[in-house]
Amino acid sequence: MTARRAATGRAVEGGAATGRRTRPGPHAGPLLAMRAIAKSFPGVRALRGARLTVHAGEVVALLGENGAGKSTLMSILAGVHTDYEGTIECDGVPVTIHSPKAAQALGIGMIHQELNLVPELTAAENIFLGREPRTPRGTVDYRAMDRRAAELLTRLGLEVPPRRPVKHCRIAEQQLIEVAKALNLDVRLLVMDEPTSALADAEVRRLFEVIRDLTADGVGVVYISHRLEELEEIADSVTVLRDGEYVGERAMADTDRSELVRLMVGRTMDELYPRGGEQRSEGPVRLEVSGLSCVPEGGSRLHGIDLSVRAGEIVGLAGLMGAGRSEVLQALFGAYGAGRVGGSVTLDGQPYRPRSPKHALRKGMALVAEDRKAQSLVLANTVRFNTSLASLDRYRRPWHTVDRRREREAVAEQVDGLRVKAPSLNANVDTLSGGNQQKVVLAKCLLARPSLLLMDEPTRGIDVGAKAEIHELMDRLARQGTGILAVSSELPELIGMCDRVLVLCEGRLTGEFHRDAANGPRAEQEALLTAAMAREDVVTGTGGGDAAEPTAGDGTTDPADPTDPADPTDPADPTDPTDPDDRPDTTDTTDTTDTAGTDDDAGTPGGDHR
Ligand SMILES: Nc1ncnc2c1ncn2[C@@H]1O[C@H](COP(=O)(O)OP(=O)(O)OP(=O)(O)O)[C@@H](O)[C@H]1O
Ligand SMILES: [Mg+2]
Repeated sequence: MTARRAATGRAVEGGAATGRRTRPGPHAGPLLAMRAIAKSFPGVRALRGARLTVHAGEVVALLGENGAGKSTLMSILAGVHTDYEGTIECDGVPVTIHSPKAAQALGIGMIHQELNLVPELTAAENIFLGREPRTPRGTVDYRAMDRRAAELLTRLGLEVPPRRPVKHCRIAEQQLIEVAKALNLDVRLLVMDEPTSALADAEVRRLFEVIRDLTADGVGVVYISHRLEELEEIADSVTVLRDGEYVGERAMADTDRSELVRLMVGRTMDELYPRGGEQRSEGPVRLEVSGLSCVPEGGSRLHGIDLSVRAGEIVGLAGLMGAGRSEVLQALFGAYGAGRVGGSVTLDGQPYRPRSPKHALRKGMALVAEDRKAQSLVLANTVRFNTSLASLDRYRRPWHTVDRRREREAVAEQVDGLRVKAPSLNANVDTLSGGNQQKVVLAKCLLARPSLLLMDEPTRGIDVGAKAEIHELMDRLARQGTGILAVSSELPELIGMCDRVLVLCEGRLTGEFHRDAANGPRAEQEALLTAAMAREDVVTGTGGGDAAEPTAGDGTTDPADPTDPADPTDPADPTDPTDPDDRPDTTDTTDTTDTAGTDDDAGTPGGDHR
């Protein structure tokens, strides 16, 4: 790691690097110095005595557990919160940042953790929002806008047409569009709050190249991520916060992972992935998919995918952006409706036809969706409301009332079990830190007690300590007989957690790796990546030569027949639009979602908060 870091070069401190703007002399002090920052929200002291220093050309990692105050500190810098205590200096000059515009004027750009794009506008319109180029006649110069947007997107390795509405872009693409938007401002200091939480390896590489270009130009970067290996690679120094307080800073070359974790959580931690090498139970097949095909609007097509998940098994799905991983989960969960999905599926031995998320929930499936903000949470509602959203039926009493006491107890149990950091169950979800919001999504899915749990980036934005807890939880659920199908862009996580890893490339299965008796799936990251880029060939790596040959060909059924009606033979589901409920029917928030590109998210609760 140190060698690699040396190769990338250390940043020059004190503004000595040459940049596009005129830099002040080295004696002008750091680019940014925040000192003794304190900030409270009603009932929560988010920051006290926090500080951060950034020099020109330097990447400073800001590290801390979920809820430590990282995003709050950076929102103060970006002019989002103006009622704080403490001082901020830019180039040694005290400044007051009283609005996002004031931050922009100082050359401060921020990529927010919870993406800030307007879903209805195109990629280019988002990138230029509020600063659209004009023609001599004063109208918006769309040609110039698209051209520049295309350049920026290409620089980030993104093949999204500038005119594609953001709501039809994947979450990883949206993340990169946010980066493009920030690059389009001529920033001196760029804050990136979890820019890679939805990105796979190759996209992260590309982003790092862009960061290196920026720092070579003298831009200072604050980089927030829970992926420690990324910090080791890209950051020059690291500042650690714990419970809103500054606990220390280190040159990255002089520290190591265990010290960082200790600073962050105040204790040492060794084993991240609890799923050891002992024999896994061979339960009955929970999910059997054969020839799954799908043509989602805007998302990746799926071509004849065969897979199965047994009770007690954790199966991983690996692949690059656009490989179709999320689409597999969304298709199975019924997010695309029945019409766009082909192939045959059985659930616990019974024929199952994906129809709607609500139907899937009834059949014992739950989905931890990738885009929690648009798909899984009603942000403007409480922790309690969100957690019990998918399970209310269980607490129903006659006359459409709900046994509130039992509901509250059940919610409290999940929330405590996951150690969600929230002032109370009645706190609104949008006041929680990103990682704690993710825990609420998990709590909701767990409360639904699924027999098959679909998880899309389950530990996205989750800190190392909580991540280990979530891994333990997955392990525990599997031991209790739940089948888990999980997508993750973090290969070590997949290799560490899964009994088998399936690899997708361009909507086809291109690899399958089985658990080795001692080490988890016998797949080096390299082999997985090779499979992820193998358009045709099937790459296997098995513990005992018992790998099932994945089908890398066409499915047995016509992918999508839009006229195909919902399965009329299914007695268990009366598909009841009139389902009485004493709440708005948000059980199936995913019904109307479009992460993977269905064309209607108008009714998505929370979707318009972006
Ligand atoms: N708008 C708000 N209203 C009330 N409390 C808030 C608000 N924003 C943040 N908080 C609280 O402030 C604390 C710090 O949150 P913050 O989002 O800064 O954490 P973080 O370090 O970014 O965590 P994560 O890694 O999960 O993103 C948390 O306890 C959070 O609940
Ligand atoms: Mg945060």
